[in-house]
Amino acid sequence: MSGLRHFASVKVPIRAQHEDGILLMEKPVLEVKELTRTYRSGERTLTVLDSVSLTLNPGSSCAVVGPSGSGKTTLLGLCAGLDRPTSGSVLLDGVLLDPLDEDQLAAVRSESVGFVFQTFQLIPTLTALENVVVPIELRAETRVRSRARELLDQVGLGDRLNHYPSQLSGGEQQRVSLARAFINQPKILFADEPTGNLDAETSERVTELLFELNAAAATTLVLVTHDLELAQRTQRIVELKKGTIHSDQDLLLKSKDLAL
Ligand SMILES: Nc1ncnc2c1ncn2[C@@H]1O[C@H](COP(=O)(O)OP(=O)(O)OP(=O)(O)O)[C@@H](O)[C@H]1O
Ligand SMILES: [Mg+2]
Repeated sequence: MSGLRHFASVKVPIRAQHEDGILLMEKPVLEVKELTRTYRSGERTLTVLDSVSLTLNPGSSCAVVGPSGSGKTTLLGLCAGLDRPTSGSVLLDGVLLDPLDEDQLAAVRSESVGFVFQTFQLIPTLTALENVVVPIELRAETRVRSRARELLDQVGLGDRLNHYPSQLSGGEQQRVSLARAFINQPKILFADEPTGNLDAETSERVTELLFELNAAAATTLVLVTHDLELAQRTQRIVELKKGTIHSDQDLLLKSKDLAL
C-alpha cells in the first residue's frame, strides 16, 4: 500500500494559469487509452470493446449512450477498476491501474470511486444502512453512520434504514446503491442507468442529487443512460456502437456556440 500511496500522491494537478486567471489545463481524472476487452466464447473471440480512448477532466460530466450490448457497462467496469482490459490502459485519479493487484485496485476504488451498478449489487444479508456503510466500514470513522443516514434520507429512504434488500422495491434498491456510491465522497462517480428503475418524480430527485454532487464537490460524473433528457444535462455525450466510439459530442462547446 505504501507504494500505491506514493504513486497516488504524485497526482498534483497541472494548472496552467493564464494572465487573466482562467484555468487552461488540468490533469485528467480519467485517461483511458485504447481499451480493448474480449471474451472467449467456445472457439470464437468476442470483441465487446475495441480500442476505446477517452479523457475526462475533474468535475466534468459525461453521458455514455448507445444500443444494448454496445459495451457501456463493460467500459464503466474497466474505467472503475472492477474489470481488467484485454489490452490498453486506465489512469484513474493519477493512478495507473494496469499493474495493480486486486487489493491495490480495491484501495483505489475505496479512495476515489463511487459506482452505481445496473444490477444494484446490494449485499442481501445487510440492511439498507449497513449496505451504504460497507465501502468505508473499515475506516472506522465515527461520522460514517450519520452520513449514511443523511444520504438515505436524501434519496427518500429515511424510513427504510433497517430494511433488507429483499424487503425493498427495485427502485428503492437502486437508491440504496446510489447512497452507497456517495459515501466515500468519490472523485469520480460511475452510474450505470441510475434512473432506470425509478418513477419520474424520484428520477428527478436522484438526478438533482447527482448534479448537486457534481457541482458542490467537483465530482466527475460518468452516467450510462438510455434517457436522452438526462444525457443532455451532462457536458458531453459519448455514443458507443458495437464496442467503439461512434460519436463524441461536447455539449458545453455547443451551448457556448449558441450563446454567441
Ligand atoms: N462475461 C461475459 N462473457 C461474455 N460476453 C459478455 C460478458 N459480459 C458482457 N458480454 C457481452 O459484451 C457485450 C457488451 O455488454 P455490456 O453489458 O457492456 O452492454 P451494454 O451496452 O451495457 O448493454 P445494456 O444497454 O443492455 O446494458 C454484450 O454483447 C454482452 O453479451
Ligand atoms: Mg449495461
